[in-house]
Amino acid sequence: MDVKAAAFTEITSEEQLPALLKFVNTYSGPVLFLGGGSNLLFTGDFNGLVVHIATRGIEIVDEDDEFVYVRGKAGENWNDFVQFCVKRNYGGLENLSLIPGNVGSAPIQNIGAYGVEIKDTFYMLDAIAVRSGEFREFFSDECDFGYRHSIFKTELKGSYIILSVTFRLHKNPGLSLSYGSIKDQLNAMGLKESVQAVSEAVISIRRSKLPDPLELGNAGSFFKNPVISNQHFNQIQALHPGIPSYPADGGVKLAAGWLIEKCGWKGFRDGDAGVHEKQALVLVNYGAANGTQILTLAHKIMDSVKTTFGVEIEPEVNIL
Ligand code: EPU
Repeated sequence: MDVKAAAFTEITSEEQLPALLKFVNTYSGPVLFLGGGSNLLFTGDFNGLVVHIATRGIEIVDEDDEFVYVRGKAGENWNDFVQFCVKRNYGGLENLSLIPGNVGSAPIQNIGAYGVEIKDTFYMLDAIAVRSGEFREFFSDECDFGYRHSIFKTELKGSYIILSVTFRLHKNPGLSLSYGSIKDQLNAMGLKESVQAVSEAVISIRRSKLPDPLELGNAGSFFKNPVISNQHFNQIQALHPGIPSYPADGGVKLAAGWLIEKCGWKGFRDGDAGVHEKQALVLVNYGAANGTQILTLAHKIMDSVKTTFGVEIEPEVNIL
């Protein structure tokens, strides 16, 4: 269901920043800086100002024998940026092909897929402080990157507008093929290992498992994969020997999609709110569900995973 904002504005050039900040800093209600909007769930109308960052442009800013530094403006479509790099055989982002969203939002949740996160090739970002209008560069060690996490989700939430992001990519790339089905997919497609081939394999895997938000409303993985203690994991594994798991800081990471499927939710549908039939981590809107109905379904799923496995899963999407 459509929702409305009380006010909306957009910038397409950084020259518009002084006027934008003047307006934002005198606006009395809440302000939301919007990228592609692909990771948001609105539970009702937004009673504030939405600022769409729509600056475009990709440039190579530096290079040496080993690396090339590629900068994308915040409003650049993420996959267009990845394909710019893939076409030139610059390695490091190919596993992140076809993730919805824009370049400027990518660092906020350290987007990741198929064994790679942007923190692996992130070099720096340029931002402007909303209050003071001061420009600031953030290098990797200042961003507090973690699994689907950065400082821009916590301490600095809403304080900076990300203007551009620069990645340090490999001219002689080593490929990340640790995620099992990439190799299988390359073989199935008859492709030799290369940056371009990995990108094509990832696109094919994503298309087979994940719904296209333009065709079926969704925000990708609705939940984060939870990390539990080794002891808790051993208890669950004793009952479910096939449970997928990954080593993680502080214990063991579980696949929330697997937990949700085991609770019987995969393919579930209540009105127009549902759980995707091919990937239980993704909640879908068949058309007319509103945000509250999606959120109600999410809470039922969280409760059932807690009751069945004693594991708490939490949303990955931004809920407004
Ligand atoms: N699984 C099931 N049932 C399901 C879904 C998954 O049993 O319905 C099992 C799979 O068989 C596999 C394991 O769970 O053993 C992991 O599944 P998958 O490889 O599909 O990855 P995921 O953990 O469900 C994460 C990311 C995705 C990313 C994929 C691939 C999170 C929250 N999600 O999903 O990211 O594409 O890995 O790397 O970490 C996103 O963030 O929006 C997103 C789609």
